[in-house]
Amino acid sequence: MEEKREQWGSKLGFILAAVGSAVGLGNIWRFPYVAYTNGGGAFLIPYFFAIFTAGIPLLILEYGMGHKYKGSTPLAIARANKKWEWLGWWPTISAFIILAYYSMILSWATNYLTFSFSKKWGDDSNAFFHNDFLQLTSSPFEFGKMIWPILLGIALIWAINWFICYKGVKGGIEKANKILLPTLITIMIIITVRAVTLNGATTGLNTLFAPDWSMVMKPKVWIAAYGQVFFSLSLAMGIMMTYSSYLPKKTDINNSAFMTAFANCGFEFLSAIAVFAILGYMAASQNLPMSEVVSSGVGLAFVVFPKVFSTMGILGTILGSLFFLCLIFAGITSSVSLTEAVAAPFSDKFGIEKNKMVTIICIIGFVISSVFATGAGLYLLDIIDNFINNYGIVVVGLLEVLLIGWIVKPKKIREHTNKISYFKIGSWWDITIKYLTPAILIFMLVQSTITEIKNPYGGYPILSLFLYGWSIIGIGVIGALLLAKRPWKDKQI
Ligand code: PHE
Repeated sequence: MEEKREQWGSKLGFILAAVGSAVGLGNIWRFPYVAYTNGGGAFLIPYFFAIFTAGIPLLILEYGMGHKYKGSTPLAIARANKKWEWLGWWPTISAFIILAYYSMILSWATNYLTFSFSKKWGDDSNAFFHNDFLQLTSSPFEFGKMIWPILLGIALIWAINWFICYKGVKGGIEKANKILLPTLITIMIIITVRAVTLNGATTGLNTLFAPDWSMVMKPKVWIAAYGQVFFSLSLAMGIMMTYSSYLPKKTDINNSAFMTAFANCGFEFLSAIAVFAILGYMAASQNLPMSEVVSSGVGLAFVVFPKVFSTMGILGTILGSLFFLCLIFAGITSSVSLTEAVAAPFSDKFGIEKNKMVTIICIIGFVISSVFATGAGLYLLDIIDNFINNYGIVVVGLLEVLLIGWIVKPKKIREHTNKISYFKIGSWWDITIKYLTPAILIFMLVQSTITEIKNPYGGYPILSLFLYGWSIIGIGVIGALLLAKRPWKDKQI
């Protein structure tokens, strides 16, 4: 039976959407810091190793599965092996949870975009962010008040998500990416070009790229490289499989996987250069050592950078607004991919039209997100993000390679992608999926569990880690098992 399934308008449209998902906050605020703290220039060795032994092979696997079995993640997996259907639902649930806090971060960025014109954060960007803007409470159990500007931003982000996904794969997601991604890249190039000519930029770049070869021998550096590649390529999140299920019959999968990985990588380097050039300027202008100005994530975007922009006059206004615009664009293309990866499985499963499902998901998602607009939002984000990224993604990725490597058999997927691809991948791929990637992921998992037991994450009360961390993992697994029990409406498995 041939089902009617939506399709991308072109292969380029698909690649842009996949790159749009991959290029996100992780590229802008995570990669530069991960590279710097893990050996600088020397980090490139484990990083590229991870791209070739996990990033690209996993992309080929996810694209191959989605294309061969023509279904969103749980459907594709169920068609490959009915018993494992739950493995497709787990990342679907995780994606939904990620969406809830991703929209919060994008709401912050939207608010900061408006602040950047008047540099509303004033002289103490740290106090402004935590006290005035977030009204952060003193513990993750204390929610404080609802913060309306954040809630408003969250509503706006969900509305954009809804609008893009509602219009469908070709008319919405592809179109949005065709506009947003090139714009994003252009803005980032402008920021980078201006940043590298700032006073002190070379110090920043030297600090970033100076290789510390001793780091290459450390397991933690390799774990960081694999973690970054997984997160950055949106792997094991149910996204790439769902996206590739919209590909036409004849399409080039192997090539698309390489292109996605390289484009994402290129953007990662571009933003690392911009970020470190700006940090170099900050160190030079304040007479501080680089080690005191480098930071990542929320602290970089909402505390350190605003402080730098304040010292730059009109240039700071321009760079500041461009920077927050970058965060928003990069984030929207990722959150759209998450929304699609949540809506498509439910639509496949229960036979509800996709755009109706998108509406339902966006309404429920907005309600869940509103919890993040309280004074405890930052704590929740921090804990949930740590658990999903350190355990959720790694375990799902591990089970994925075990399933394909040992049960479905890699040859089946490889023969499928080779049949339609211009260049063929050899049996090295089977070996990677069967042995290499699982071995590395098991190692990562053991390491992070040991670390977690030795010193529980972030010094939070254990109870909060159970409530917001482990329980989220539990909800993901239990929810997945329950969903997998329900029958597929009008679908042949
Ligand atoms: N790949 C995105 C980034 O680099 C993050 C992301 C992960 C988005 C998982 C969606 C799902 O920021």
